[in-house]
Amino acid sequence: MVQVRSIDISPPLINTSCAWASDLAQLTELYNCPHTGAVTTRTSTLKGFPEDGTQNVVFAKDTLSSLNSYGYSPHPLASYLAWVRALLTSSTPSGGVPGKPVIVSIVASTPDDLATMLEMVQEFRQSLKDDQSAPHNASMLVAVEFNTSCPNIKNKPPPSYDFPSISPLLDVVATFFRADPTLTIGLKLPPYFYNTQYVDLIQVLSSYTTKLHPEGGEEQAPVNPFAFLTSTNTLGSSLLFPEQVIDGENRDGFALPTGLGGLAGEAIHALSLGNVFNISQSLASCPDRSLKDIVVIGAGGVVSKDAVDRMRKAGAQVVGCATLLGSRGVRGFEQLLL
Ligand SMILES: Cc1cc2nc3c(=O)[nH]c(=O)nc-3n(C[C@H](O)[C@H](O)[C@H](O)COP(=O)(O)O)c2cc1C
Repeated sequence: MVQVRSIDISPPLINTSCAWASDLAQLTELYNCPHTGAVTTRTSTLKGFPEDGTQNVVFAKDTLSSLNSYGYSPHPLASYLAWVRALLTSSTPSGGVPGKPVIVSIVASTPDDLATMLEMVQEFRQSLKDDQSAPHNASMLVAVEFNTSCPNIKNKPPPSYDFPSISPLLDVVATFFRADPTLTIGLKLPPYFYNTQYVDLIQVLSSYTTKLHPEGGEEQAPVNPFAFLTSTNTLGSSLLFPEQVIDGENRDGFALPTGLGGLAGEAIHALSLGNVFNISQSLASCPDRSLKDIVVIGAGGVVSKDAVDRMRKAGAQVVGCATLLGSRGVRGFEQLLL
C-alpha cells in the first residue's frame, strides 16, 4: 500500500490516463479489476474537446509500443465527476473493491478555467460527504492529476517544458491546496532529456512549499501542495510508417493520419526509467525536505513484471501503464504480476 496524501493505493499498480479510460464502461472495468489499486480517468477539459477525425492510436509490430494522436477526452469534466460518483456508489460490483481511489485527470490552459475545474472537483468531493450511498470516506478517495504534458495539441506546447508559462497555473493549484490541505493533487510530466530541466522542475515545485498557517502558534512542518508526480507522458514528435504497425497495410503515407504523434510503451521505457530515477533522486536530495513526501508514479513501457520491478528500482512507489491496457485490456494487469 502506498499512501498519497488522502488516498491509499493498494496494490500500487494503476492505469495511467489514456483513451481506454474514457467512458463509464471502461472506467467500471478498471475499477472492478482486482489488480488496480486506483483508476485514472482520461484527461478532461472544462467543456469537452472536439475531435476532428485525425485522432487515432496504432500499435507497433515488433515491440509492445504505441503511437497516438489523441488530444483530450471529448467528454467534459462534469461527465467524469458523474461517472466517478457512479463508481464510488456502485453496490460492490463483482470483484470490485469498495473504496478504490479514482484519480481525475484534468487540463486547462488558463488559470481561470483551472480554478473553475478545481472548484467543481471540490464541490463534488464535498457533495460525496452528504451522499448516503457513497462510502463514508468517499471524498478522500478522489484525487486530481493536472496534465501538463500532452504533446498532441496544436499550437499548445506542453507547459511543463516551459516553466515560466506554467507558474500561473501552479499558483491556482497551490491556492486550492492551501484552502483545503486534504486535496490530493499531482502533476503529469513529460519525458525530460537533460539535467537543467530536472533542476528547473525541482526549483519550481519547491517555490510552492509553505507552512500552512504561518501565523499560527505552533511550529508547523513545511508542506508542498503537490502530492505526486506521474512520469512520463508520451514522447511527442514521433513517427511510424504503415509497415511498422499492426494492421498498417491499408494506411497511406504514415501510420497515423497526423504523421507525428506521441510514442509510448516499450519504445520509451529506458527514457521513462531515466526520468523516474532522476526525479526520485532529485526529490530525495533536495534541501527542501517537504519534497521527500512527493510520491513518484512511474509510467512508460511497463508491460511485464520485470518492467514493474525496474520502475520500482528507479524510484517509483506506484507503477502505471496505458499501452499494455490498450493492447491487452484489463487482463494485461495480470501480466504485471507474473
Ligand atoms: C492512446 C493513449 C492516450 C493517452 N491519453 C492520455 C491522456 O488523456 N492524459 C494523459 O495524461 N496521458 C495520456 N496518455 C499517456 C499515458 O498515460 C502514459 O503516460 C504513456 O502512454 C506512457 O505509458 P505506457 O508506456 O504504459 O503507454 C495516453 C497514452 C496513450 C497510449
